[in-house]
Amino acid sequence: TTRTARFTLDPDFTVGRVDPRLYGSFVEHLGRCVYTGIHEPGHPAADEDGLRTDVLELVRELGVTVVRYPGGNFVSGYRWEDGVGPVEERPRRLDVAWRSTESNRFGLGEFMTFLRKLGPRAEPMMAVNLGTRGIAEAMDLVEYANHPAGTALSDRRIAHGDKDPFGIRLWCLGNEMDGTWQTGQKTAEEYGRLAAQTARALRQIDPDLELVACGSSARDLPTFASWEATVLAETYEVVDHVSLHAYYEETDGDRDSFLASAVHMEAFIEEVVATCDHVGARLKSPKRLTLSFDEWNVWYQRRPNPHPFEDWQEAPRLLEDVYTVTDAVVFGSLLITLLRHADRIAVACLAQLVNVIAPIMTEPGGPAWRQTTFFPFAQAARHGQGTVLDVRPVSPAYRTEKYGEVPLLHATAVRDEDGGVTVFAVNRDRHRALPLDVTLRGFGLTEVVEHSALSDADPEACNTLADPGRVVPHAVAGTELADGVLRAVLEPMSWNVVRLA
Ligand code: AHR
Repeated sequence: TTRTARFTLDPDFTVGRVDPRLYGSFVEHLGRCVYTGIHEPGHPAADEDGLRTDVLELVRELGVTVVRYPGGNFVSGYRWEDGVGPVEERPRRLDVAWRSTESNRFGLGEFMTFLRKLGPRAEPMMAVNLGTRGIAEAMDLVEYANHPAGTALSDRRIAHGDKDPFGIRLWCLGNEMDGTWQTGQKTAEEYGRLAAQTARALRQIDPDLELVACGSSARDLPTFASWEATVLAETYEVVDHVSLHAYYEETDGDRDSFLASAVHMEAFIEEVVATCDHVGARLKSPKRLTLSFDEWNVWYQRRPNPHPFEDWQEAPRLLEDVYTVTDAVVFGSLLITLLRHADRIAVACLAQLVNVIAPIMTEPGGPAWRQTTFFPFAQAARHGQGTVLDVRPVSPAYRTEKYGEVPLLHATAVRDEDGGVTVFAVNRDRHRALPLDVTLRGFGLTEVVEHSALSDADPEACNTLADPGRVVPHAVAGTELADGVLRAVLEPMSWNVVRLA
């Protein structure tokens, strides 16, 4: 029928290899992400370090490969020294970013313990404070973390119980330094210069660092593009990546536009890539920068907080968005967008990991459970490793307020080490199923291993403390692979994973 969407896959037509770090996440000292999220001494599931083993298990299942820490807006007022050394001696501080009290019971050492327990796949990504602090404090932190021994700061780490250097490779040079909400907000000129100087200084301590310059905090800010161009003109030769942040929410009941959020994300990525390459060409540099999409998610920023709290509380309930199946479908298409740009994306971090706009929720003293968005992430992290194939869908379209005509199908495909292919696809049609035909040339594939879908008759269905298993992916019957053509039907408003062997 004319309503069938289709595309052709060929092993020779590829986008690029997926950097496993595309499946990163983010732990900020914000609300209950750290305290009663990953860290809750006294919880029945807490281990000897106060880490919640129920959460650790879910994070492993989620498959995150990078964890960014400790912020976010928080980092722009943070003194890293407060979070190291004997816990009883650590100061309590005001966190002005989130108007909370920071106990500092959790800091760098505890974070590294958390990562070690996650397993060898998880890599730290640290941010330095370029809001209220500068080059010297960033240098101190890198020396403390990465220098083997024999200096005041490295010996301090050893005295704190960490004999081996942490070997942290990935570093963010501040966070969202263009934001008006940012403590120590800077102009592009001020930030570009400070970031370049900091980068040079840090590389003198440890030449193996991978450094991220802050891009603008949102594509729609007036500073976008000129911010990137100015900052990169200063930092191009001394950094490896530029950061992008983007959050999406449904506004004014315009669900059709919300389902097309990836159109915005795609344009954002392409504009930043173009700006990077333009600066590189102007500098006649052979170097190509890559992107660190180190904050992305669905986030209902305009909704009032349903949990009343007072200023300067410890670990208040902030940003505890409950995600519906609709949100998970949009979330899935954001993942598809990241994969479709795997050639330029070196790192991406789902913001955030636990409780704060997160795929995992917890109750203090109670259980931990998976939000709807947990599933697309876990499936992509597991099956979206290898080489992204070039997917050019031919699809019926629908009209949206914000983005005009948008294809109903959004898709990508990844070929793994064993030659298997996984198709990730979203049907944006809220009311009708979408038939999909994929012609596969020269893969030698014969079998549909699995067609899993996330969709629901109730678009508002979600997982909650009272009903944590309400939404889970289900198997779709009838998907066939014959004579090199995959035939599937994508349920209305659904996220789909089709694995072929
Ligand atoms: O992830 C929540 C916040 O969003 C981060 O602290 C900040 O970097 C961004 O504005």
